[in-house]
Amino acid sequence: MEIDIKKVMYRMEELYDCGIQEDGCHTRMAFSKEDTKARDIFMDYFRQIGIEPQVDPAGNIIARMGGKYPDLPAVVMGSHLDTVPDGGKYDGVLGCVGGLAVMEAYKESGQKPKHPMEVIVFTDEEGFRFGSGMFGSAAICGEETDISGTDLDVYGEVREQVLERFGISLEEALKSKRREDSIHCFLELHIEQGARLDKSSTPIGIVTSIAGVSRSEVQITGEANHSGSTAMGDRKDALVTAADIIATLPQIVKEHGQEFTVATVGTIKVLPGSVNVIAGSCTFSLEIRDQSDDVVRNLEELTAEYIGKACKNNGCSYSLKKISYHDPSPMTRWITDEIEKAVKELGIEYKKIPSGAFHDSLIMAAVFPTGMIFVPSVGGISHSRHEFTGEEDIQRGIEVLLKTVQQVDNMNLSC
Ligand code: HGY
Ligand code: MN
Ligand code: MN
Repeated sequence: MEIDIKKVMYRMEELYDCGIQEDGCHTRMAFSKEDTKARDIFMDYFRQIGIEPQVDPAGNIIARMGGKYPDLPAVVMGSHLDTVPDGGKYDGVLGCVGGLAVMEAYKESGQKPKHPMEVIVFTDEEGFRFGSGMFGSAAICGEETDISGTDLDVYGEVREQVLERFGISLEEALKSKRREDSIHCFLELHIEQGARLDKSSTPIGIVTSIAGVSRSEVQITGEANHSGSTAMGDRKDALVTAADIIATLPQIVKEHGQEFTVATVGTIKVLPGSVNVIAGSCTFSLEIRDQSDDVVRNLEELTAEYIGKACKNNGCSYSLKKISYHDPSPMTRWITDEIEKAVKELGIEYKKIPSGAFHDSLIMAAVFPTGMIFVPSVGGISHSRHEFTGEEDIQRGIEVLLKTVQQVDNMNLSC
């Protein structure tokens, strides 16, 4: 069975081009016209191998190839096509195109797998538009999410209307939940989005666990006032207060975090936003991640404490709104064992590593046996137009995926 790497590389380019904006940025924001364009192209890829893809009520694209024993649970691969603003070429796309390449290798070889095989393109994994991610995988897993139809996106659009344009209704989406016995296992091929593999020149990573992620929105309220006539001691400057908090975050992580703890403020909005007005309000995103739930919770508390202190010192008040929270998730042991077996048989160097980035696998692992295969990100760069993974690494990653699929397909089959 052969992987057609030229076709893989061509498809990744074609999908990348869907997101090129006039200003040269590359963005396929979930539920945008660029996302729709990439999804339509991807659905045609399935049709090219004779499979008519379905779209479930949460917008997940699901392509299914029959197996010798149709009643067996499916071996599932997949990932996401949506990106962050000015994102890279490989994040998510690799797992989708890689799963398709494995399905295509089976088709071309005429060998039917024993289990039905599926490739899923999950909806809105990144969650930068509405703040909370993994919408499609959460729907498939029936995960209780704190999202609502009234949520506003980064442009002030209401979630319900955005989803409606995309043909999704929130209550219908929750009907995408899959039976636990319908999936034999889920395998996601993904770039590492970190530097461990690249720095150690290791071609394959076997993911042991995925970090938990807490996302909140912090609003600091001070007093808008004249920048020329308000003495420094009389100010309630929301931006100065936010800057103090943001600048102190690395120190809080350094003193109370562990090896994999990270905290990030990625967005900030200042009002009224004029050169000659002291900021009356400042709203910023706060994201905390770690492999341990206790560490994330502790960092949440310490950060909230510091926010209160900084506001008190500057005569400001604050609100802290929880946007989303996902527990850390270990990958399924028998799956990581199968990936390790495949890598060893292929004679490829590998490392077992945790993932600081979250993925649809974070959600899927709570319900279905799940494993992830990483390939290196050059320089550890990701969520950036400079994200790069070489063709050889991509080919190796898909070959490990194919071999793992062959192994799990032949497992404990009494039939
Ligand atoms: O944000 C993340 O960790 C992932 O890339 N969506
Ligand atoms: Mn991703
Ligand atoms: Mn990402």
